Amino acid sequence: MKDRFGREINYLRISLTDRCNLRCVYCMPMNGLTFVPNKEMLTADELEKVVRAAVDAGFHKVRLTGGEPTLRQDIVEIVRRLVRIDGVDQLVMTTNGYRLPYLAQDLADAGLKRVNIHVDSLNRETLPKLMRLGTYDKAWAGIEAAEKAGLTPIKLNAVITRGYNDNAAVELARLTLKKPWQIRFIELMPFAGPTEIQLEHYVSSKEVRAWIEEKLGPLFKVDEGKLDGEARIYRLAGAEGAIGFISPVSNPYCDDCNRMRLTADGRIRMCLLFDKEINFRDTLRNGSGHQDLVNLFEQAIWAKPVGHELKNGAHPEARTMSQIGG
Ligand code: GTP
Ligand code: 5AD
Ligand code: SF4
Repeated sequence: MKDRFGREINYLRISLTDRCNLRCVYCMPMNGLTFVPNKEMLTADELEKVVRAAVDAGFHKVRLTGGEPTLRQDIVEIVRRLVRIDGVDQLVMTTNGYRLPYLAQDLADAGLKRVNIHVDSLNRETLPKLMRLGTYDKAWAGIEAAEKAGLTPIKLNAVITRGYNDNAAVELARLTLKKPWQIRFIELMPFAGPTEIQLEHYVSSKEVRAWIEEKLGPLFKVDEGKLDGEARIYRLAGAEGAIGFISPVSNPYCDDCNRMRLTADGRIRMCLLFDKEINFRDTLRNGSGHQDLVNLFEQAIWAKPVGHELKNGAHPEARTMSQIGG
């Protein structure tokens, strides 16, 4: 279905939980967050109803996110149920990968196609500066498990944060010479919570690209620089993998936006960077039928704002990224 601005909205990102085992500095505070109680999160049964309605409202790509989606005990069951729904062409996941050594094969067997793994550095010293509870060994084991289970092509997401992981940009980019991965650099966006870090330590894609080119040589456009999702893709000469830049701050892609989100507590969020939400869970739980849910999705698509207003200094205040799911 098209929204008021002619954009085809067909990609639903579902946050399965707002909990996470890592607490990256720009995403979650170390302590003091309150989490959505279990009974307020959508059950596997409810998620199935949600996605059936979403498909009838025109969605066909579904991404499971968090917090950290693999912390849900029923994650394999959720994948198994959602993958069966007619009209879901792509069921994918964004994860920090730490639980993949135990789960990757089961997830692949249940029908998950691929994963995007969030890792801000693959350097022993730098990684935990940013991903506070993270370690190099666990990050690497997760990536290897995903590869072994065939959850490919693997994309790695890194947020370069000045003063924390500046060097990681070149180190991660260098990996693409040997590995068939897509490594994507995401510009830091301001949300509620650690907003100061997000504003003060921001690095633009342009700067990251210059660092990479200075050390590793020129980057060549892939597909004439067309967007792949929100990423612009490049390649180093002779590289196996690719490098993507996701630039929501310096080069917004709102005109091409095709997505909507469902938060862990069952709210439809029309735009990542706008706090306006529709309470989907209450409709779901008050006995409404399938068509009511489809209507609610259609209403949300119609209410989707034209784009974000970071340039004018407006950013979301109500939720951290871990509560929305990226
Ligand atoms: P693919 O399906 O592989 O293209 O993945 P994806 O890029 O859609 O998913 P992923 O979870 O890897 O998203 C990467 C990051 O891009 C997110 O965590 C956000 O930081 C950013 N992003 C995704 N969607 C939006 C959006 O609608 N607006 C903005 N501003 N940023 C977004
Ligand atoms: N700005 C940009 N990206 C962020 N992520 C988390 N917080 C932010 C932020 N403030 C990214 C993570 C992960 C994805 C789900 O969201 O790096 O890849
Ligand atoms: Fe967890 Fe991802 Fe947030 Fe890091 S960015 S704390 S891995 S949800």
